[in-house]
Amino acid sequence: MPKQKRRSTSRGKSSSKSKSVPRKASAVSKNAPIATSPLVEARNSKIHGRGVYAIAPIKKGTRVLEYLGDRITHAEADRRYTKKRENDGHTFLFIASHRTVIDAAVRGNDARFINHSCNPNCETAIIEVAGRNRVFIDAIRNIKPGEELGYDYQLTWDSTDEPEEIALYACRCGAKRCRGTMLDREPLDKQQEKKKKKKAKTTRR
Ligand SMILES: C[S@@+](CC[C@H](N)C(=O)[O-])C[C@H]1O[C@@H](n2cnc3c(N)ncnc32)[C@H](O)[C@@H]1O
Ligand SMILES: [Zn+2]
Repeated sequence: MPKQKRRSTSRGKSSSKSKSVPRKASAVSKNAPIATSPLVEARNSKIHGRGVYAIAPIKKGTRVLEYLGDRITHAEADRRYTKKRENDGHTFLFIASHRTVIDAAVRGNDARFINHSCNPNCETAIIEVAGRNRVFIDAIRNIKPGEELGYDYQLTWDSTDEPEEIALYACRCGAKRCRGTMLDREPLDKQQEKKKKKKAKTTRR
């Protein structure tokens, strides 16, 4: 499952990415970006700032929008935002691959306003189209007009992160089973450790 980028890649890793191997382009009929949709609009949200709301019924499986913006390297993303994010949990960055981050603060569309939800009605899909990993927002259940769209950000973090920093990513989605944070369930360093151990096990066989 793709994730948004929270912080410096020098300390964290590229996430989304990670768990979901990009699929090939077969699911995308045309290569044109899905910049807008007649199914949704951005407006003020109870969760945070602006959010994206259904203005028409959206069927499960609908590809609603593409996450668009400046395509930059992780190093450039760190250069642009590491300082800012030391005291601010706000992010418009999405990791498309180990090489590319999408900065929706620059030339982004309404997809950048979709808030995090611990009980999401959407998910993100990273799909390789003509050699580029693109990020799409798909409905994972039927959505009624007036419902706010949300997906699980699964923001990357490390077990060594300071509690004050972790607190910046507190979740206010309001779901019955809100997990209280927009961060991923498991820290990145632990995920990587597990991966290494698994790899070592299989190569020993
Ligand atoms: C991609 S923006 C989403 C749009 C945002 N509401 C805005 O107006 O800019 C992501 C940022 O919105 C805020 N946010 C999104 N979902 C949230 C949630 N469930 N609880 C608290 N803040 C949230 C966080 O600051 C997060 O870094
Ligand atoms: Zn929540």
